[in-house]
Amino acid sequence: MSFQPPKGTDDILPPESRLWRRILTLWEEMSGRYGYPLMLLPVFEATELFARGVGETTEVVTKHVYAFSDKSGRSLTLRPEGTAGAVRAYLNRGGQAVWKGAYSGPMFRYEQPQAGRRRQFYQVGVEYMGVSSPEADVEVIELGWRYLAAAGVEVELRLNSLGDDACRPRYLADLRRFLDEQRTQLPDSMVSLIATNPLRFLDSGPEAIAEAAPRFEDYWCGPCGDHHRAVLGALEGIGIPYTSDHTLVRGLDYYTRTAWEYIGLGLRGAQNAVGGGGRYDDLAKTLGGKPAPGLGFALGLDRIAAVSTLDPEDEIKVFVVSETGPTEALYAATQLRAEGVGVDFDAAARSVKAQLRTAGRRGVPHLVVVRGDDLVEVRRGGEQKQMPLREVASWIRESS
Ligand code: HAM
Repeated sequence: MSFQPPKGTDDILPPESRLWRRILTLWEEMSGRYGYPLMLLPVFEATELFARGVGETTEVVTKHVYAFSDKSGRSLTLRPEGTAGAVRAYLNRGGQAVWKGAYSGPMFRYEQPQAGRRRQFYQVGVEYMGVSSPEADVEVIELGWRYLAAAGVEVELRLNSLGDDACRPRYLADLRRFLDEQRTQLPDSMVSLIATNPLRFLDSGPEAIAEAAPRFEDYWCGPCGDHHRAVLGALEGIGIPYTSDHTLVRGLDYYTRTAWEYIGLGLRGAQNAVGGGGRYDDLAKTLGGKPAPGLGFALGLDRIAAVSTLDPEDEIKVFVVSETGPTEALYAATQLRAEGVGVDFDAAARSVKAQLRTAGRRGVPHLVVVRGDDLVEVRRGGEQKQMPLREVASWIRESS
């Protein structure tokens, strides 16, 4: 009998995982630089948190959750996304005035697996609570944009505003009326959405319907229109190109005002969104906390890794080959590692030829051959040099 990874999950192993590590390190560096400290949150939460937070009628909640009861009969759900948990954590901390956090980790959605759509997938993201100004939107949008550029992922930024409580009801009423008039032309599978989630027609319905439907921009209230124009103006001010997209509605219910997606130019088909985010000014209240504006985004690492042009270096710069057995190789490796060099060696006491083969397979740039003398031999490309082991680290640093 042999076990395989569960459907829709992957083993991410070297050499591919080297790219993942680089992408994650870059995320830690950049999110930190924008003032988003790391937060580590539970991988499962109360099922009710997602039903309330993400929305009871969204596909994520109706079809895609991994829910289970624990031994005490509590209903828990493997997190399908990070925002609801982050806002819960913010509220548990007392809902401070301004609060920022960055996360990375696995998310779980019971979807039909295909390229770019997995059941266990990985996200990095930020959440920013307590600030309602358009400058906060632009800071967050820009972080995602710059991060993706640094990760070697070319994207188009698509943007919309989904209004707020003041203007959304009137828009939804008119959208429903329009969809009702088109009822006979709609696919049967979508008719029930008119009542439950009419916005979905804009991004998942027939294109002609989305084009002819009323547009949100004609319904924005004064403050929503002002907010959106300020966001667009500031994006132009800092040189971030964008495309306005009136059909962008996102698949989660908590959004108000600004909503956006980063569309990967190298990704084809339905799974071309590398990430998305938006404002969710009502979410804290929906989760039973005191009202607080908030916004954030999440990016899919599986999709980033699929198109990233980063070419991460192997951390291992030296392979120690011993002519006198593995103990000496261990001593030499230990000394070089203590001096900050990435080193590997073969602990299996194999022949010199076998050790050289392993080093060749790894593509390590330097070989250090130890043979029980005071001097070791350093090989790089066609070059060979004898030197004391204690000089090797600085020689590599200075000559690389
Ligand atoms: P989302 O659009 O559902 O947003 O997911 C963000 C990204 O996660 C997607 O653009 C995609 O790259 C990736 N992703 C989603 N589902 C899958 C899957 N099944 N397989 C592979 N990748 C996937 C959110 O999750 C929101 N929490 C973002 C947010 C944060 N909004 C505000 N703050």
